[in-house]
Amino acid sequence: MAIERIAIVGAGQMGSGIAQVAAAAGLSVVLADAAPELARKAVEKLGATLGKLVEKGKMSAADRDAILGRIEPAARLEDCAGADLAVEAIVENEGVKKELFRKLDALLPAHALLASNTSSISITALAAATRRPAQVIGMHFMNPPPVMQLIEIVRGLQTSDATYEAVVALAKRFGKTTVTSKDSPGFIVNRILIPLLNEACFALQEGLASPEDIDAGVKLGLNHPMGPLTLADFIGLDTCLFIAEVLHRELGDDKYRPAPLLRQYVAAGWYGRKTGRGFYRYDA
Ligand code: CAA
Ligand code: NAD
Repeated sequence: MAIERIAIVGAGQMGSGIAQVAAAAGLSVVLADAAPELARKAVEKLGATLGKLVEKGKMSAADRDAILGRIEPAARLEDCAGADLAVEAIVENEGVKKELFRKLDALLPAHALLASNTSSISITALAAATRRPAQVIGMHFMNPPPVMQLIEIVRGLQTSDATYEAVVALAKRFGKTTVTSKDSPGFIVNRILIPLLNEACFALQEGLASPEDIDAGVKLGLNHPMGPLTLADFIGLDTCLFIAEVLHRELGDDKYRPAPLLRQYVAAGWYGRKTGRGFYRYDA
């Protein structure tokens, strides 16, 4: 099926990046959030990000204008009603996501597909909250979506071949590479990444080394683009904890238990870059 109109719900770091990717591929985009001013601010922020790329000569002003011209901030969720595909990128909480899937199911046309950008939550469970479970799938973009090459496609138990083929074709149109995962907590990428980040939190908590040395050890010793604590701050410590909790609860193995230090930082509101403080400070 042809996907030309896309609704993205959740205009945080992932949703606005996905909006950029979709608009750059020529789709018309509606970007929604919990409140209209949040969607409007996200589009403004995206304009500033693209403006910097233009200043650096990495994007033409015409491309920036074309991308921004295709993204409409939603005044209300009902503005998503005409979409062929909705991509959900809200908070990593199963109950809140199910509630949104119920609303989108009631709102969107019968042919429309519903995708989740969830990092860890069961696609099968989200699909079961709708009356179109065969049209529900995981479309897991990596952060930052405009830069990262991968989209992890997650098939729920009920996902049809037609839904799967349509989103794989769309990912190709976005210029991305896909991998396909079964619906299991954390899928492929976060099943492997989150224990690494969590272990770095345990190492810091135990006083093994300073945050800088833990990061430099992994960055330079393993040739990772970012050290694990820097990456956790980049993802968001709240999101890292939500994912670690899903792995621990759903896989039932104590090796996935979240580090108490991670819990403490989240309890303090130190979510990383997005709040200005995590393992590092981002005051500037
Ligand atoms: N649109 C288009 N291009 C953009 C862009 C945007 N919004 N933002 C940045 N870019 C471009 C830059 O212009 C730059 O291009 P060139 O290479 O041509 O110069 C390139 O992207 C890199 O950007 P920067 O120079 O600003 O930054 P950098 O070189 O320090 O790289 C990084 C930043 C790509 C984030 C890199 O540090 C990195 O790869 N880090 C690891 C990221 C990672 O692991 N992501 C996955 C997280 S896990 C996940 O996402 C799953 C989950 O569920 C938690
Ligand atoms: P974020 O905190 O930057 O943004 C989440 C946005 O969702 C916020 O703007 C918030 O206002 C909005 N929101 C919350 N509840 C809502 C609701 N009921 N209706 C509408 N909007 C609502 O989070 P993020 O980092 O963009 O993550 C979003 C999703 O993407 C999560 O499921 C996360 O696990 C997943 N993800 C995150 C990353 C990452 O590195 N941060 C990578 C891949 C996937």
